[in-house]
Amino acid sequence: MKKACSATDPLWYKDAIIYELHVRAFADSNGDGIGDFQGLISKLDYLQDLGVTCLWLLPFFPSPLRDDGYDISDYCAVNPSYGTIDDFKQFLDAAHQRNMQVMIELVINHSSDQHPWFQRARLAPPGSPERNMYVWSDTDKLYEGVRIIFTDTEKSNWTWDPVANQYYWHRFFSHQPDLNFDNPAVMEEVLNAMRFWMDMGVDGLRLDAIPYLVERDGTSCENVPETHVLIKHIRSVMDAEYENRLILAEANMWPADVRPYFGDGDECQMAFHFPLMPRIYMALRQEDRLPITDIMAQTPDIPPTCQWGIFLRNHDELTLEMVTDDERDYMNLAYAADTRMRINVGIRRRLAPLMDNNRRRIELLNSLLLSMPGTPIMYYGDEIGMGDNIYLGDRNGVRTPMQWNSDRNAGFSRADPARLYFPVVMDPTYGYQSINVEAQQSDASSLLQWTRNMLALRKLFQVFGRGTLEFLAPDNRKILAYIRDYQSEDGTHSETVLCAANLSRFAQPVSLDLAKFAGRQPVEMLGYVPFPAVTDQPYPLTLAPYSFLWLELQPIVSNVVEPTEQQMEVPEP
Ligand code: GLC
Ligand code: CA
Repeated sequence: MKKACSATDPLWYKDAIIYELHVRAFADSNGDGIGDFQGLISKLDYLQDLGVTCLWLLPFFPSPLRDDGYDISDYCAVNPSYGTIDDFKQFLDAAHQRNMQVMIELVINHSSDQHPWFQRARLAPPGSPERNMYVWSDTDKLYEGVRIIFTDTEKSNWTWDPVANQYYWHRFFSHQPDLNFDNPAVMEEVLNAMRFWMDMGVDGLRLDAIPYLVERDGTSCENVPETHVLIKHIRSVMDAEYENRLILAEANMWPADVRPYFGDGDECQMAFHFPLMPRIYMALRQEDRLPITDIMAQTPDIPPTCQWGIFLRNHDELTLEMVTDDERDYMNLAYAADTRMRINVGIRRRLAPLMDNNRRRIELLNSLLLSMPGTPIMYYGDEIGMGDNIYLGDRNGVRTPMQWNSDRNAGFSRADPARLYFPVVMDPTYGYQSINVEAQQSDASSLLQWTRNMLALRKLFQVFGRGTLEFLAPDNRKILAYIRDYQSEDGTHSETVLCAANLSRFAQPVSLDLAKFAGRQPVEMLGYVPFPAVTDQPYPLTLAPYSFLWLELQPIVSNVVEPTEQQMEVPEP
């Protein structure tokens, strides 16, 4: 018997809206300055009301926290700072009761050097199964030429261990030794961890850093065929034992290299679309749709059960690994003039500051996030336009406490402010006195209310999560225009949506070739406003600076279908 989870549709992730959060940063229930599961439980009503349908939790396991928890010292436990296993189960049930799925991290490329496996490995004789849990070498010349990922901190992928008298391999920080997948015991441990959480009812796993699982001499040690064999194995075990679960690949690669992580629908169901993300920012700053249409043209088709995960920001730097050198220079100049804003190969800033706090630009980017093909993934705090703190080290500037209200510590914690895991943002523009949930809940025109409306609207249409994409090619390249189209499998239901976005800071005219939709009735989706019917002539639109339009192309010309009761419930924007 396969174990069921909270989702009943095996393709639930296609209609999901994912919200990424860190337990530590969300809400502190016991006043020790650190967010915890009880705090998170107390905020589930907020998340349900916002309209997100799946919560992605950053690592919450025991850890020395030298990489914000991606350095794990026990895969099957909860970091005591955040609570107990029972607290986690209580959280999971409470999320499921609200019809929200839960995705957690499975960090399998590496562990913390404090993990008992590593401590045992260093003392065990070379060649023994204990030693071989990790990747060792007598020389640091093996796998020469493999790129370094954390360029700001690491000089080599090898570090000498004086206890083991050998070098160990690590693609990330030197305190994160890579696990050795040539040792079958490692896969056993990975499956144990997977079962531990899935038995409890966890709905999805984000597979961290999977391109680097297997090393092979003479290659880049990235995306090697053996890695795909391993992931297929994980998937087959998951499918054999569990119903309707999800694995999401974190593979920061070009689209053609990510494609194999979907396999024939027998590897990961989802993968992040890394290269699209910086190109959205580039298109906006250049006021030209080309970066977006170009990368989408290079994006291969994926199996029908698979889905892209798209995002604007996350807990890491805005990565510029998947752009050319020129594009990287441009992005740094445009979005990270102060070198403090840069880290490794990317930009450590939040969405609102990247947009110079310009509400129209923030909304425009979110409209793309919510209407491009794939499942949108939002980063906590971006729904209220939180700022960052570039004076904190590493990527911690975008990991500050959630700003709930204008009380002490932004309502995040009752602790002495000096005790907080990180200070709350306090500058005059983004500080918690101006940017917080409570203020935006009582302000009908706040970004928070706008975001809620957009999520509610998106959820009324399956086309955004499941439909096809076709770009239009109007002469005015400042306009990005595309058709999303969805026909239900039984043929009873069809949705066609025209999305148009003005990437320019000035108003723009555009003329769209909609001839193949002649006779259709466009209806603006936020206000349910009928627009002039489509004919075989060019269709003219005027877009205000940084504005966007979503027009449903309804089949009947003469009588606009009255909104259904469900649609009427969407509050006024
Ligand atoms: C992933 C995580 C990142 C972490 C790295 C190493 O890329 O997103 O936060 O630092 O893995 O564990
Ligand atoms: Ca706490």
